[in-house]
Amino acid sequence: CRVRNYKFNVVMKNTTRLCSTKSIVTVNGKFPGPTIYAREDDTVLVKVVNHVKYNVSIHWHGIRQLRTGWADGPAYITQCPIQPGQSYIYNFTITGQRGTLLWHAHILWLRVTVHGAIVILPKLGVPYPYPKPDHERVVILAEWWKSDTEDVINEALKSGLAPNVSDAHTINGFPGLVPNCSNTKGFTLNVKPGKTYMLRVISAALNEELFFKIAGHKMTVVEVDATYVKPFKTDTILVAPGQTTNVIVAADQGAGSYLVAAATFMDTPVVAIDNLTATAMLHYTGTLSSTPTMLTSPPPQNATPVANNFTNSLKSLNSRKYPAQVPLTVDRSLLFTVGLAVNPCPSCKNGSRVVGAVNNVTFIMPTTALLQAHYFKIKGVFTTNFPGNPPISFNYTGNPPKNLQSTNGTKLYRLPYNATVQVVLQDTGIIAPENHPVHLHGFNFFSVGRGVGNFNPKTDPKKFNLVDPVERNTVGVPSGGWVAIRFRADNPGVWFMHCHLEVHTTWGLKMAFLVDNGKGPNESVLPPPKDLPKC
Ligand code: C2O
Repeated sequence: CRVRNYKFNVVMKNTTRLCSTKSIVTVNGKFPGPTIYAREDDTVLVKVVNHVKYNVSIHWHGIRQLRTGWADGPAYITQCPIQPGQSYIYNFTITGQRGTLLWHAHILWLRVTVHGAIVILPKLGVPYPYPKPDHERVVILAEWWKSDTEDVINEALKSGLAPNVSDAHTINGFPGLVPNCSNTKGFTLNVKPGKTYMLRVISAALNEELFFKIAGHKMTVVEVDATYVKPFKTDTILVAPGQTTNVIVAADQGAGSYLVAAATFMDTPVVAIDNLTATAMLHYTGTLSSTPTMLTSPPPQNATPVANNFTNSLKSLNSRKYPAQVPLTVDRSLLFTVGLAVNPCPSCKNGSRVVGAVNNVTFIMPTTALLQAHYFKIKGVFTTNFPGNPPISFNYTGNPPKNLQSTNGTKLYRLPYNATVQVVLQDTGIIAPENHPVHLHGFNFFSVGRGVGNFNPKTDPKKFNLVDPVERNTVGVPSGGWVAIRFRADNPGVWFMHCHLEVHTTWGLKMAFLVDNGKGPNESVLPPPKDLPKC
C-alpha cells in the first residue's frame, strides 16, 4: 500500500456553458474537478487550500473513514469549515473498499461545481470479479445553473418557497446539444470497434435523480457505490445524487456516432422539471461525421416502472470472495419518516416556510462541529434524544395530518458500538410524496426491502432479502413508499444521514448517528489531526 498525495486549490474560474459565462467555485480550476486514484489499503492525503470567499469543506462520499471521522468532511458535523485563506489536510486510509466513489464540497450549495471522482482499484494483483474491460472512463453527471446557486437557495430560504431548478444537466461538465447555442460541444467518448469500456458513472447532481442511456448499446451493470453486484444488462440506469454505477459497454456496433443522454427522474405529482436533457456522444474512431447516427431519448420524468425495474435488478455479488455480510438479527429497529413539513414564518411569502424533517425533527446545524463536541465532551451542542420512531403515527403516504409542523433540534441517535441496526425510511405525503436519495456517512448498508405505501412491520419483514441485497451508501426512498436498510455500527464517531437532494438537506431533512467507542484497542475514535479547522 502507498501514500497518495493530492493538492486541491479551491479557486474561482470563469466558465462558459449554455452560451453564457460565469465565475464558479472549482478545485484546481476544473469542472468537474480532478480524479483521485488509489488502491484498496492506500492512504490518501489531500491538502485543501481555500482561495475563495466562501467557507469550504470536502466530503469523500462513501469512504468508510473507519475511526477517522475527522476526515469525513461535512461542515459542522465532523469538522469546522476551512475558512478563506486556510488549509486542511484530509488524511484517510481506504479499508475494505474498491470501486467508484465521489468527492464533493459539503457546505452551502458548493457541491454544484466542486466535485470529482474517486477511483479505487483493487489491491495489486487482485482482478475484478468480471472480465477486465479494455478501457475505463469516468462519466460524471451534474447540473448547470445560469444564475448563482448561492443566490438561488438564499432567495428560496427568504421566501419560504421552493427554489428554481437548474438550466441543464451535464455529462463530464457539458450540457451537450443546446438549442440556439451552436458553439457548445458536449463530451465525446471515443471508442474502437470490438473493444469493451467500463464507464464509472457518478451523479454529483444537486437536486435530481437521473436516468442515463446510450443509443444502440446495452450496459452491463457490475458495481454500485463501490460494491460489486451480480452483473445484469440494461439499456437505462438510474443514478441518484451521491450514487455511482459501473457499467461495461461493448463497442459492438462497428461504426457511427451514438447519442448518450441523461435526464431527470422525479416521481412526484407537484414538480414538473423542464431543465435540459444532457447529451454526449459515443463515437467510433474512423467514423467521419460526428452528428449522431443514432438518437436516444431517456424515459419520461415520471417513468417509475423503469426506475423500479433497474433498482429491483440490483443484487450483491455475494460470491465466496465478496460475501454479503447482511446482519441477520437487529439490535435496534428504527422507523424514520423522511419528508417535508410546513412551519410558521411571519416574514415569508405565505407566512410559512417549507422545511424538511426526519421523524418530525428539522435538523438545526450547530455552530461547533458535532464530532468535536462529542470527542472533547463540549456540553450544549447536541442532544441524544432523536426519536427512534415517529412521535405521532399517521397515514404517512395518505392524507397529511392537520398539523404539518415539525420541531427544531440538533438531535442525534445514539448507538452502542457494533450494534446491528435496521432503519425503515418511510416517505411521507406531506405537501407531496417524493423520491429521497438518503445517504449515510461512515457506513455501507444493505437495502433489504422496499415497497409502496406504508411500511407494515408485521408482513413486510417476511419479504426482506437477507441473502444478496444490494450494498450501498445512498438509497432511493421511493415516492410514497419505504425502504429498509441494515448496517453494523462498527465505526465509532458522529455520522451524518441526509437526503442527498441538496434542497432537502438545506431544509433540514437530515440527522446524525452517534456511535459510541467500543472497549477493544481499535474501537475508538482516533485523536483529531493538529490542523483540524477551528470554528
Ligand atoms: Cu455526498 Cu453528506 O454527502
